[in-house]
Amino acid sequence: YKVNWDVESAKKDGFEHFMMKEINEQPKGVHETLFRRLKEDKVYIDGIKITKKDLERINKIYIVACGTAYHAGLVAKRAIENFAKIPVYVDVASEFRYSDPFVDKNTLFIAVSQSGETLDTLAALREAKRKGARVLSVVNVVGSSVARESDDVFYTWAGPEIAVASTKAFTTQLIALYLIALHMGITNEKLTEKRYFEIIKELKVLPEKIEKILKNTKQIQELADNNFNNNSIFFMGRGIDVDISMEASLKLKEISYINSFAIPAGELKHGTIALVEKGTLVIAISTQKRLTEKMISNIKEVKARGAKVIVVTLESNKDVVKVADDVIYIPETLDILTPVLSIIPMQIFAYYVSIARGNDVDKPRNLAKSVTVE
Ligand code: G6P
Repeated sequence: YKVNWDVESAKKDGFEHFMMKEINEQPKGVHETLFRRLKEDKVYIDGIKITKKDLERINKIYIVACGTAYHAGLVAKRAIENFAKIPVYVDVASEFRYSDPFVDKNTLFIAVSQSGETLDTLAALREAKRKGARVLSVVNVVGSSVARESDDVFYTWAGPEIAVASTKAFTTQLIALYLIALHMGITNEKLTEKRYFEIIKELKVLPEKIEKILKNTKQIQELADNNFNNNSIFFMGRGIDVDISMEASLKLKEISYINSFAIPAGELKHGTIALVEKGTLVIAISTQKRLTEKMISNIKEVKARGAKVIVVTLESNKDVVKVADDVIYIPETLDILTPVLSIIPMQIFAYYVSIARGNDVDKPRNLAKSVTVE
């Protein structure tokens, strides 16, 4: 009788890789991050003491981060501007710290970091503090440097993330930032109670909707198996789908080593369409109802030049099927909340492409989980 397991695989809960385990932990992480901050369906954030008076003074917000956390910041800009009507700038930390940014005591600086130890993010935070900004951070690792040096901290409840490619840290960062945006909007009275409660109601059912996507990954695996050899791939979207296109492209390039990138679909004609030839794979993310028609035109443009198109869209969208080669459906939700769902099939796609190419999924070449040097 031989026990056939080792400590490493035991830690993976029966999954072959940490990344797939962590993808599957997203319903739990999202649930924890959300429900620990809800009381009677209202947002209560212990770590954040920003009052109505503070918000009257804050005339702009900088969100600064690196990598995947930066993409969470892009989504957060849309939520904060929409709910709280405060202008938001999003910058990558390595740019922010050397750019002489417009930061003063009326600026709120938000750092987003899974590890809380990324050198550039920490340096940017110190620079913002030096200029008088109030510093709020969204961090996963308790007691990390970024958390310790911030005025307010919102901890995500993703649990330890081991795989280099970030998955559950991202979706929990999104939840944290939606809650911060809701808190701001209701506090400064720019968001109506009706919409506030409507958004909270929708947030609460996201964990089961993620679960639903995770139950049906066969189609995504097949798409990965049919496309893993394609070295010409790009992502496109409009509105909030641009942000998710960027994150989806980052996931894919990190672990598959395919040269991929993302563009706002409206920019196709300004350059990228020159790359399209027979067999180019275009992944179109199209979840925003008011932009569907525009996306369909863009899909037709690349199809006409020989591209193969996979579309990620909502179950209710019956129009894209007519123009796409393949469609990945996600459950319905509010337009502003779709990133929490649309990124999930893209993480799974990247995972299976990486496997099909025989790569080390959890430890991709040249990358580190936490970048603590410049
Ligand atoms: C590295 C990791 C990424 C991560 C980024 C920022 O590049 O590989 O997954 O998004 O750092 O890390 P942080 O810990 O600050 O979120």
